[in-house]
Amino acid sequence: MTDPLTPVLSADWGTDRAWTREVYESTGGYSALRTALRMAPDDLITLVKDSGLRGRGGAGFPTGMKWSFIPQDADTPGGGKPKYLVVNADESEPGTCKDMPLMMATPHTLIEGALIAAHAIRAETAFIYVRGEVLHVVRRLRAAAREAYEAGYAGKDVLGSGKDIDLVIHAGAGAYICGEETALLDSLEGRRGQPRLRPPFPAVEGLYACPTVVNNVESIASVPSIVRGGADWFNAFGTEKSKGYVIYSLSGHVKRPGQYEAPLGITLRELIDLGGGMREGSELKFWTPGGSSTPLLTAEHLDMPLDYESVGAAGSMLGTRALQIFDQTTSVVRCVLRWTEFYKHESCGKCTPCREGTWWLVQTLKRLDDGQGREGDIELLLDLCDNILGRSFCALGDGATSPISSAIQHFRDEFEQGMHTPSSELFPPAASTLFPQEVSA
Ligand SMILES: Cc1cc2nc3c(=O)[nH]c(=O)nc-3n(C[C@H](O)[C@H](O)[C@H](O)COP(=O)(O)O)c2cc1C
Ligand code: SF4
Repeated sequence: MTDPLTPVLSADWGTDRAWTREVYESTGGYSALRTALRMAPDDLITLVKDSGLRGRGGAGFPTGMKWSFIPQDADTPGGGKPKYLVVNADESEPGTCKDMPLMMATPHTLIEGALIAAHAIRAETAFIYVRGEVLHVVRRLRAAAREAYEAGYAGKDVLGSGKDIDLVIHAGAGAYICGEETALLDSLEGRRGQPRLRPPFPAVEGLYACPTVVNNVESIASVPSIVRGGADWFNAFGTEKSKGYVIYSLSGHVKRPGQYEAPLGITLRELIDLGGGMREGSELKFWTPGGSSTPLLTAEHLDMPLDYESVGAAGSMLGTRALQIFDQTTSVVRCVLRWTEFYKHESCGKCTPCREGTWWLVQTLKRLDDGQGREGDIELLLDLCDNILGRSFCALGDGATSPISSAIQHFRDEFEQGMHTPSSELFPPAASTLFPQEVSA
């Protein structure tokens, strides 16, 4: 098999001290910023549009188009106000583990991308909102930002261009909902993180009621390579409508879990092969293409191209490309219960369907997990999902229903067994545990 990996963002992850400015510069780092500063901001936006880059935070919205929504004409609403770039580094979706390793290994890729993006949208301040619990990443980003200021890449008159661009590394307190872009903005302003009503959209009234672009870490970190390589080079990777290379996070019952950078359109079968195959004696039972809020899929989808269109056509979503792999030892009921407990805990409480619904989902799933399900519990779960999906204030509520309704669709018999047999008898947890548990005396 030819090697389908395309390490660009992850090319230097194994290099000694790759996180320092010195090493980053030695491999061409910050040359894209120099090029970008010589370009007109609108030309940069056109370049990113032509590349076909789509947001890597989950929804896949075209990045260049998002940047072009920022009003620049003083006569249009918001046009005369300051503009802001906000990088979403809150990464908390179960299974998703790409932004944190990227910021840890090569933080300057993100910083260079943020400075270029700020120039493109004519922002003088770029914020990076990072999960505060991941203290080592916060420290690494702050050290990289300091190095960028020292070299004149950030601050006043960046590289003598006459542009001022400040960097603010903001540590959030740690809440999944603060990854939702409008809740993030509330949190950044010092309020409790809860989603805002849209419209107005952040492009017109975002941070401090000013035009704001919110982009994922991987989206922004991809920008320097696009400036260096050009739009045609970038869009030669991927499929017709899903362009470029991305980081896939492979986890669960595979021999070598980890981050694999490859073009959009690669299949799960190829990625599992790259991960050394399934663990010994293991058979794929179900998997998530983009984290726990994307409907789960089965072995039937092993050869489906991992691009936005194909995964959508299969009834799921590419999301954050968090490929969680589960084998035949896993109880789907127990797994879905764990995820639902997460959504219940992380529900911000603003709207009734999600606040109350996730609580009821957990109660019902617990009964089935304990083998004490009642007649009609499966219909009750589906009815609860139906009353949350599309009726919640933000996508957290919708996402909470995805694993449940898709699990019932593919594994209804296991839910039926929950009427009389605990999942721990059907699927002893020790068999699906990845690491041997310590036995205390
Ligand atoms: C509950 C919830 C959590 C989210 N968490 C994140 C996150 O941690 N990181 C992220 O980039 N996007 C997250 N998103 C998506 C963002 O709202 C937004 O779409 C994204 O940051 C836009 O960036 P992109 O266009 O570069 O993908 C989340 C959305 C929801 C509904
Ligand atoms: S769907 Fe959930 S997280 Fe979103 S606003 Fe409603 S309660 Fe909050």
